[in-house]
Amino acid sequence: MHIQDAQERYGLVSRLFHWLMALALLWQCATVVTRVALEDSPLDEFLWATHKPLGFLLMVLIVLRVIWALMNLSRRPASINLLAKYGHTALYLLVAVVPFLALLRQYGSGRAFEPFGIPLMSGFEGDKIEWMIAPGSLLHGWLGWLLFVMILGHILMTIRHSRSGKQQILKRMW
Ligand code: HEM
Ligand code: HEM
Repeated sequence: MHIQDAQERYGLVSRLFHWLMALALLWQCATVVTRVALEDSPLDEFLWATHKPLGFLLMVLIVLRVIWALMNLSRRPASINLLAKYGHTALYLLVAVVPFLALLRQYGSGRAFEPFGIPLMSGFEGDKIEWMIAPGSLLHGWLGWLLFVMILGHILMTIRHSRSGKQQILKRMW
C-alpha cells in the first residue's frame, strides 16, 4: 500500500481522509435528521451534542485534505468525466464552507466554544457581531442539506459506474 497517490489509484492517506470523512459526514447527517424528525428526544439530545465538535473536526480535516490533494495533484487518478471533476470540487467547497460559516457565527455570538475540551473561542461580553452571524444563519443549514444531497448523488454515481463495469473507480478509492 503506497502512501501517496498514483495515476491508477489513490494512496493510503487520501483513502483514510476519504473514508474517515465519509463516516463523520454520515454521523453529521444523522445528527440533523434526528434533530428535525425526533426533536428533544433522548436520541436527539445525545446526537446533537456531537454536531458542533464533529463539525469542527471536519473543518480541520478538510483543510489537511485539500493540502494533501494539492501536494498530489500531478499524480492523482484522472477524473472519469467533467461531472466527476466539478462534482468532487463542489464537495470539497461545501465541506469547507458549511462548517466555516457555522464557526464564524459561533465566534460572532460571543459564546465560548470548546470542542473536545480545546479552548478554541473564549467568548466575550457585550454585543454580538452581526456580520459574523448573518451568513451562517442564512446559509449554514441550507448548504448543509445541499451537501448531504450531493453526497447521496455521489454514492449513486459510484454504484452506477460499478454496475456498468466499464470503470473500476471503487477499486482505486477502497
Ligand atoms: C461539515 C460540517 C457540518 C455540517 C454538514 C452541518 C450541517 C447542518 C445542517 C444540515 C443543519 C440544519 C438542520 C436543520 O435544518 O434544522 C445544521 C444546523 C446547525 N449547525 Fe451545523 N453542520 C456542520 C458543522 C457545524 C459546526 C462546526 C457548528 C458550530 C460550531 C454547527 C452548528 C449548527 C447549529 C447551531 C445549527 C442550528 C441552526 C441552523 O440551522 O443554522 N454546525 N448544520
Ligand atoms: C458510502 C459513501 C461513499 C462512497 C461509496 C464513495 C465512493 C467514492 C469513489 C469510488 C471515489 C473515486 C472516484 C474516482 O476515482 O473518480 C470517490 C472519490 C471522492 N469522494 Fe467519495 N464516496 C463516498 C462518500 C463521500 C463523501 C461523504 C464525500 C464528502 C466529502 C466524498 C467525497 C469524495 C471526493 C472529493 C472524491 C475525489 C477524490 C478525492 O479528492 O479524495 N465521498 N468516492
